[in-house]
Amino acid sequence: MAEALVSGLLSEDTLGPDEIIVSDIDDQRLEALSRSFGVETTTDNRRAAELGKYILLAVKPQNIDQAVKSLGAPLTGDKAIISIAAGITTSRIRDLLGQDLPIVRVMPNTPALVNAGVSAVALPEGMDKEKKEFIQKLMSAAGVVVYVDEDDIDAVTALSGSGPAYFLQFVLELKKAGVDAGLSEETAAVLARQTFIGSAALLEQTGKTEGELIKAVASPGGTTEAALSAFSEMGLSDIVRKAVDAGLARAKALAKT
Ligand SMILES: NC(=O)c1ccc[n+]([C@@H]2O[C@H](COP(=O)([O-])OP(=O)(O)OC[C@H]3O[C@@H](n4cnc5c(N)ncnc54)[C@H](OP(=O)(O)O)[C@@H]3O)[C@@H](O)[C@H]2O)c1
Repeated sequence: MAEALVSGLLSEDTLGPDEIIVSDIDDQRLEALSRSFGVETTTDNRRAAELGKYILLAVKPQNIDQAVKSLGAPLTGDKAIISIAAGITTSRIRDLLGQDLPIVRVMPNTPALVNAGVSAVALPEGMDKEKKEFIQKLMSAAGVVVYVDEDDIDAVTALSGSGPAYFLQFVLELKKAGVDAGLSEETAAVLARQTFIGSAALLEQTGKTEGELIKAVASPGGTTEAALSAFSEMGLSDIVRKAVDAGLARAKALAKT
């Protein structure tokens, strides 16, 4: 995720390589990042935190305690922390840090890797305009940005954080159904994948709603309508709602650990 953000920031010219310092515990990762992006690297989290104005925490949730403690607060200067760690609240980060800095919580998703992500951002109360503008620019480098209350971040995790896997699972299932209907694996794969990509492009480029685009394919009494009726009879709405609920319950449980 951090690599995707750095790549986006540089390709959009939001920041130059000399304005980014990357810290990681893995020397080999750092060498690769330095080679690819020309950014300064270090294994000393405290040094990166001292040098940076915006400190982006992009470690796995289980490594967050160690990473925040290694920042060695109190930090001096006008700084803000941005965390993308799933399930980690800003109050937990504040407790770990032991210093009252503005903390922004962000939930991005993997299409950020190709600048086509969506990030939900929860800003702390009273953050100044300059920092808000920077956060907007930072996350825009990964795609679309929406603003939510921190209480809604678990729902965001269950929708757009995990969401790429839901759609991709559907593509997999469609491919399998195509093979069962007699197509070769290769043909079914191209058809399922390109139908998914093309439908997303229609949604993005025509400005039409999902409902309007469905109507354009599903003529009365036709094949699409027959398949959509089968979805409905099998309770697709229920299946999706239950899946998102399961993700939400898991996000809430992780937040408590
Ligand atoms: N992937 C997603 O779809 C997604 C979506 C939204 C949010 N997120 C959140 O994004 C965060 C990062 O996820 P990711 O998939 O990018 O993780 P990742 O690939 O494991 O990247 C984290 C990096 O941080 C390093 N690291 C671990 N502990 C450290 C420490 N104490 N100090 C400095 N560096 C440390 C790791 O090194 P080692 O590999 O050597 O441990 C690794 O290179 C997670 O909290 C996740 O919840 C992910």
